[in-house]
Amino acid sequence: MKIFKTFAVILTVLFFSQFAIANDKCKISIDSTDAMTFTTESFEISKSCDEFEITLVHVGKLPINVMGHNIVITKTSDYQAAAIAGMSSGLDNNYVAPNDKKVLAYTKVIGGGESVTIKVKSSLFEKGGDYTFFCSFPGHFSMMKGKIVIID
Ligand code: CO
Repeated sequence: MKIFKTFAVILTVLFFSQFAIANDKCKISIDSTDAMTFTTESFEISKSCDEFEITLVHVGKLPINVMGHNIVITKTSDYQAAAIAGMSSGLDNNYVAPNDKKVLAYTKVIGGGESVTIKVKSSLFEKGGDYTFFCSFPGHFSMMKGKIVIID
């Protein structure tokens, strides 16, 4: 009988892992590295998700003051201005200008070995809109950026 029980457990695990995959459209995990890169070039946010969960993982080893990373989200047309304003705002402000209306969402800055998760309302975004995610750590935004596609 034991083998049947084991089989039942495996089936249950398979069932729930399928379920988890079905919910993955409402979340993304993005790695960032000591080479000043994100490993994700673009991702989709579905309007069918009330909230969308974004996790940033720093898979490197360098400390926050040397190779800090975050994720800042703006309209693509706002991204350079927001990045430049953020650069001089300091680590205390996570390199985001306080009350910058161009910034739709952002994570705190993290160093090697750390991770951070935020939830964003999908109602912030318009379907068909052009959005960019980037790292606002000084000097990073031109290399560390990607596209967000808003879908139904
Ligand atoms: Co960075």
